[in-house]
Amino acid sequence: MTYSTMRDFLSALETKGLLRRIEKPVDPTWEPAALAKWMYQALPAEKRFGMLFEKVLGSDIPIATAALGANTATYAAALGVEPEGINAAWARACLNPIAPKEVKNAPCQEVVISGKDVRLSYLPIPVWTPGKDKGPYITTITATRDLDTGKQNMGVYRTLVRDEKTVVSNLQPGRHGYANTLTWTGKGRPAPIAWVIAAPPAVHLAAVARLPYGAEEIAIAGALMGAPVPMVKCKTVDLCVPAEAEIIVEGEVHPGETDMEGPFGEFAGYMGPIDRRPVVRITAITQRKNPIYYGLTSQMPPSESTTIQSLTNAGILLKTLRHDLGEIAVSDAFIDLTYGGLLAHAIVAMKPAYPGHAKKVGRLVAAASSVKRVTVVDEDVDIRDSSHVDWAMNSRYNPARDTILVDDVYYRTKAGQVCIDPSVAHNTMGSKVICDATLKVDAGTFSLPPKAIMMKALDAWKQAGLPEFEIPKRARLRIDAS
Ligand SMILES: Cc1cc2nc3c(=O)[nH]c(=O)nc-3n(C[C@H](O)[C@H](O)[C@H](O)COP(=O)(O)O)c2cc1C
Repeated sequence: MTYSTMRDFLSALETKGLLRRIEKPVDPTWEPAALAKWMYQALPAEKRFGMLFEKVLGSDIPIATAALGANTATYAAALGVEPEGINAAWARACLNPIAPKEVKNAPCQEVVISGKDVRLSYLPIPVWTPGKDKGPYITTITATRDLDTGKQNMGVYRTLVRDEKTVVSNLQPGRHGYANTLTWTGKGRPAPIAWVIAAPPAVHLAAVARLPYGAEEIAIAGALMGAPVPMVKCKTVDLCVPAEAEIIVEGEVHPGETDMEGPFGEFAGYMGPIDRRPVVRITAITQRKNPIYYGLTSQMPPSESTTIQSLTNAGILLKTLRHDLGEIAVSDAFIDLTYGGLLAHAIVAMKPAYPGHAKKVGRLVAAASSVKRVTVVDEDVDIRDSSHVDWAMNSRYNPARDTILVDDVYYRTKAGQVCIDPSVAHNTMGSKVICDATLKVDAGTFSLPPKAIMMKALDAWKQAGLPEFEIPKRARLRIDAS
């Protein structure tokens, strides 16, 4: 099942043992972020959990983080599927979007604070790289609308709290939120904008999907949830927001108003430099009576940000390959969870239909996604098991013959501007690599006993009193073919 509220999702995670409450009072200027950093830096993925900080100094509102993207298990729970069903859920949702429905009364508007009463400091907005970030940052869904088409966009753009009534948002060229605000400010009008804090989980996951401009993330979220997402009109700006969210921050981008934004700890593992970005005047904060604050943990990978973006974008990539580009020979796609899809490593499983097919698919992946490395393997490889992928690389990939370099594909900005990829020198272009690790010759059979013997040995293992195990997919694939 999927969850129509963040609070229901958090309770369900707790029941499954995937969420921890932290009862000790925490200081939002450093503790929630630093504790989340330890979780991601120290614990293996399967031991991570969502975090709910119940007592926050200076605020009555608890903070949740890492619940959507502690690991693949919490992400799958947010979609209401098993981990193996994540990619299929995305394909279904992209192919069958469900438009949202408008409602008049919304939990997210039980309390309305507007005009001179607006005071951002009552919200427990964390500092995410304590000691390095310029200040507290809102790290949640940003909703904007195209003035001409009326279509709404949702993305996550880090947003610096400048003072009680203004923020500076990282609305940057190339992103849909920025494009939408330009449709208003370009005509001399203030652009409506809103931050949606602790929306239904699927809405958060859809917001980080790389979709074509004009495709509405909220309709994909509806499809992921299997029902239209209830939306309500904002109180002070011309936008609709998820009615079941915990908190909404409404505002306006006024033409020409900018300020310096950053530094902020970037998802790629380095501090991002400072740049000029639009200022937003906050016009209202609306909320449930006893709201929960949600902030996505980003900065040094692996993080919640990289986990949710990689899993979401792998689903979108697979759908693009199979449905939009007709590559039905491709059966699965995975993006490593460290870089959130952008500049990451995509691994694709397929059954090549002709010589060169895997290379062709590799080129399509490089062109259709923002990853930096592409590895194509056969279907008998578990693409989520790096030791299995390494084995395929070692045994089926001949570097001189099976490598394609794609040069000049992305631009590394001038010194002092936002730098995402430190491997590329300033003012030059980045490149991509495609590795075809599919088998090109008949390699004979695997060096494992036949399946019948291996299965019989499972009984012998038990009789010998050896410790129980679950058969890993890697072993199953190999034994089935032995
Ligand atoms: C915590 C977090 C912070 C993010 N911050 C930014 C950001 O500041 N700028 C940006 O362009 N993308 C950022 N992203 C990635 C975008 O949200 C993502 O690429 C999304 O698809 C953008 O939406 P759009 O394609 O509709 O513009 C962030 C993602 C997360 C999870």
